[in-house]
Amino acid sequence: MSFKGRDILSTEDLSKDDLLEIMKVTAKMEELVRKEHVSDLLSDKVVAIIFLEPSTRTRLSFETAVRRLGARSISVADAKSSSASKGESLADMARTVEGYVDCIVVRQPQTGGAKIIADAVDIPVLNGGDGSGQHPTQALLDLYTIQKERGTLENLSVGMVGDLKYGRTVHSLSYALAPFNPSYIYCSPKDLAMPEHVTSAVKKMGITVKETGDINEALQSSDILYMTRIQRERFDDQAEYERLKGSYVLTRELVQKGKKGMVVMHPLPRVDEITTDVDDLPNAAYFRQAHNGVYLRMALLAMVMGRA
Ligand code: CP
Repeated sequence: MSFKGRDILSTEDLSKDDLLEIMKVTAKMEELVRKEHVSDLLSDKVVAIIFLEPSTRTRLSFETAVRRLGARSISVADAKSSSASKGESLADMARTVEGYVDCIVVRQPQTGGAKIIADAVDIPVLNGGDGSGQHPTQALLDLYTIQKERGTLENLSVGMVGDLKYGRTVHSLSYALAPFNPSYIYCSPKDLAMPEHVTSAVKKMGITVKETGDINEALQSSDILYMTRIQRERFDDQAEYERLKGSYVLTRELVQKGKKGMVVMHPLPRVDEITTDVDDLPNAAYFRQAHNGVYLRMALLAMVMGRA
């Protein structure tokens, strides 16, 4: 199925063929950047990059991807500077912006908000994170990183650690890796467990899921150890955040006790869940992972605008 005009809202919507096609185009984009630096593939296109929640990586890598493809962008980098702060609905905002651009990239705090936007417009919408829902472009760059670091996406044991309840990256990753015969170890405090709808969906796909509160279990058997931050901004009760923060801290010593060849990933930003002395271990892939975001987002922009 062609990607032209498609929305990227959730990794649940992507087939194995879709995922492999995205990986292929992403590799081509990486090659393009390494050889030529700038392309004119999208020189007639304008992209709206609307971020109503904070971001460094997703927003700036989309901005970079736009420039590397010769397109231009208009941006909202702060909810306070848009009419969302005056109470404008997502649908009204989207219908307005649709008249200005060829594609919308959006991050906003409402789970399901990206779909509301996509339903309101006829141009492609890329979900840059919707509340505690999904972060599909992150999961796709995670897949690309896994493929590069491990040489395959197939048959991997993946430990996901930290805030699995509110962590949209691990929701998206659980679905994105599912067609590649993984096994999952979900490691979290009981109060931050993976939502039942995700766990039951992946189990229905035949995936073995182990749930634990002990990071040592994840360390012993994970080919990929995917750390996440306990997210202060998702808690209504700050006392609850204070109780749960610091639940898991991955140190250099723990990495060295982990499964041989274990790749440590993190969507970033980190707070204190990976100590900085892990950073120079060959296992630490998280900054390489962040850099891969540009290639992946170049691929998606080109694909949904019918140029790849
Ligand atoms: N991984 C990620 O979404 O980072 P940002 O919040 O900085 O975009």
